[in-house]
Amino acid sequence: MTTPTEVHSPPTERQSPLATRLGPLRLRNPLLSASGCFGYGEEMGAFVDPGVYGAIVGKSISRLPRNGNPIPRVCETASGMLNSIGLQNPGMDAFISNYLPRMRHYDTVVVVNIVGDSIDEYVQMAERLDREPGVGAIELNISCPNCAVGGMEFGIDPQATETLVRKVRDCFRGPIFAKLTPNVTDIVPVAKAAEAGGADVLSLINTFVGMSVDWRKRRPRLGGVTGGLSGPAIKPLALRLVWLASRACRIPIVGIGGIMNADDVLEFLVAGASAVQLGTAHFVEPRSVPRILEALEQAVQDEGLDNISDLVGTLKTDKKPITIQGDG
Ligand SMILES: Cc1cc2nc3c(=O)[nH]c(=O)nc-3n(C[C@H](O)[C@H](O)[C@H](O)COP(=O)(O)O)c2cc1C
Repeated sequence: MTTPTEVHSPPTERQSPLATRLGPLRLRNPLLSASGCFGYGEEMGAFVDPGVYGAIVGKSISRLPRNGNPIPRVCETASGMLNSIGLQNPGMDAFISNYLPRMRHYDTVVVVNIVGDSIDEYVQMAERLDREPGVGAIELNISCPNCAVGGMEFGIDPQATETLVRKVRDCFRGPIFAKLTPNVTDIVPVAKAAEAGGADVLSLINTFVGMSVDWRKRRPRLGGVTGGLSGPAIKPLALRLVWLASRACRIPIVGIGGIMNADDVLEFLVAGASAVQLGTAHFVEPRSVPRILEALEQAVQDEGLDNISDLVGTLKTDKKPITIQGDG
């Protein structure tokens, strides 16, 4: 495990205009891979070096292996995609023996995303990861829309969120990200509950539950019937949730949702995110991150900024927003 005082901080990059702080973590840039869209790093090795990312977040790991949902598991939608993977993963034992040893060698921060059926399972996994070297942070997936038990069940209830985060906080010394679901009426009480429980970072957001229908076949397009919507279609929704949570909480936010290019990244930073994760972008252009990093450096220079973080939370709203809930 990496304790908050020994955070990853490549000395040669300290002066980089993209170097970013994310709570106790120092990142070489604010771009992270989103869970489930980058494997455990090596699956993307043919396209991109995980070391170019500020941090990489692995696919959700559960205590025991999971086989996932029936196929088809993904389908394309207007400006986005639906997935119903069902958290297929090799389980914690196989992750620790087969994947983590290789992830430790990446020249970046490794964030291990975990999901459980019960609070006890999250705690057991966090205890194990606390003893493992090379775990820069954990991300609690309390937001998956594609499983019958666990995940989103906790993240829709502020009380359950606070209890879960607090119990994990008691046994894990490194930074904790709480990844929240947008599938709630109001994200603010859940965000505040995660903060009260001791989360260091909020990851906002996981996918929106949706579905796609092939009317000719009278069938859903996904084997799991419903799935999680991601990609540019959800960006305006995600931006609003990041903005709302950043006004309500003091801990930093990682913005997630439909980020495809440098302008998207900068929009999230201005709305209040300190860093961002890219998910669906990897399915469209697996090498998008190196390209976006170049464009971000250029934007920082063009704006005459010392560091990209100078943009965080700089959104100007002339008056009180007319609608918070967006009722038209
Ligand atoms: C195919 C796929 C698999 C995903 N698997 C996970 C997962 O295992 N754990 C998790 O926390 N989020 C998972 N997500 C959600 C993403 O991490 C991200 O929150 C979401 O896709 C929104 O970001 P995007 O619009 O950039 O894709 C998955 C998303 C996709 C598209």
